[in-house]
Amino acid sequence: MAAWTTHNIPSQAGKLAVVTGANSGIGWNTALELARAGASVILTARSREKGEDAVHRIQRLLPSAQVRYEQLDLASLASVHGFAAKIGSELKLDLLVNNAGVMRIPTRELTEDGFEKQFGTNYLGHFALTLLLLPLLQRSPAPRVTSVSSGAASMGLKKINFDDLQFEKTYAPWKVYCQSKLANLLFMQELARRSAAQGIPLLSNAAHPGWASTNLQSSGPGRPLNRFENFIQNRFSQNSAQGALPTLRAATAPDTRSGEYFAPGGTLQLTGSPILVPLPKPAQNSEAARKLWDVSEQLTKVEWPVTNSTRAAFLRS
Ligand SMILES: NC(=O)c1ccc[n+]([C@@H]2O[C@H](COP(=O)([O-])OP(=O)(O)OC[C@H]3O[C@@H](n4cnc5c(N)ncnc54)[C@H](OP(=O)(O)O)[C@@H]3O)[C@@H](O)[C@H]2O)c1
Repeated sequence: MAAWTTHNIPSQAGKLAVVTGANSGIGWNTALELARAGASVILTARSREKGEDAVHRIQRLLPSAQVRYEQLDLASLASVHGFAAKIGSELKLDLLVNNAGVMRIPTRELTEDGFEKQFGTNYLGHFALTLLLLPLLQRSPAPRVTSVSSGAASMGLKKINFDDLQFEKTYAPWKVYCQSKLANLLFMQELARRSAAQGIPLLSNAAHPGWASTNLQSSGPGRPLNRFENFIQNRFSQNSAQGALPTLRAATAPDTRSGEYFAPGGTLQLTGSPILVPLPKPAQNSEAARKLWDVSEQLTKVEWPVTNSTRAAFLRS
């Protein structure tokens, strides 16, 4: 079968998409290609300067692109609520790409709400965001949520550390990252299950980019890559445009179903054109998915289904 490329993206005209962490790397390339296919794209970034620059870089390549920046810091529930409220007046939202992420923060840091930062940004922020955007997604005839995970989802602890979910006892930067990416996959599955159970026609799927050279490696670890990592990077990495292809396939392919997972088809899923891959074993644990969902509702105070009282409770707190 021919390799899947951006030429396979069907027209996205008339669709509104939100891409988180769209000012750099995979998020920016995802936003670029969605815009090229005709979607209106909201690029979110935590910094106005970076967000506006990202929009200008797309407009320079595609002068008629319908793209705009909105501020969103996933390490702040106030920012997540603010963003959801701000775009709540849109007619509908067709596609949400939960892409933003941080990796391997060397020492334990906290989000504005006191969550461990990798778990809070990569997972809890997107959990709250998705639930808060659900009313808008439900106004689309065929809404889709694509979660960006990682091959790391099946590394580290290979399970959710419910006894010390936010690594308060022993902080291990890599394990915490791996857990946050596993959480993305468990969330993707539970969102699919709950939507189906409630008759909501929402498609929830996921992708991982393999190894793409982006700011993730340089800005996250707070240290240079070690010899092994450098060897892998030189030998087995691709650029961020290629790294965005699994996300783009998951986000746009007409023949994908809820629960599906896309990744590069080459050696160890590090590079190559995107193919459908099985979910790693730790991500197939539906009991862990339900439990994680319940804990996430308690932590973020955002519940399914989102009601006006959820929003009011947050504003009062
Ligand atoms: N690159 C890879 O090889 C690889 C492999 C597996 C998975 N992934 C996943 O791919 C996704 C994209 O990463 P990337 O490789 O494209 O890295 P990147 O170039 O560093 O992009 C990450 C994006 O997330 C944003 N971000 C970080 N913290 C945020 C926060 N608190 N609120 C809002 N946005 C925030 C960053 O904004 P700033 O510019 O402000 O930091 C940036 O826009 C991540 O989920 C990552 O885990 C990447």
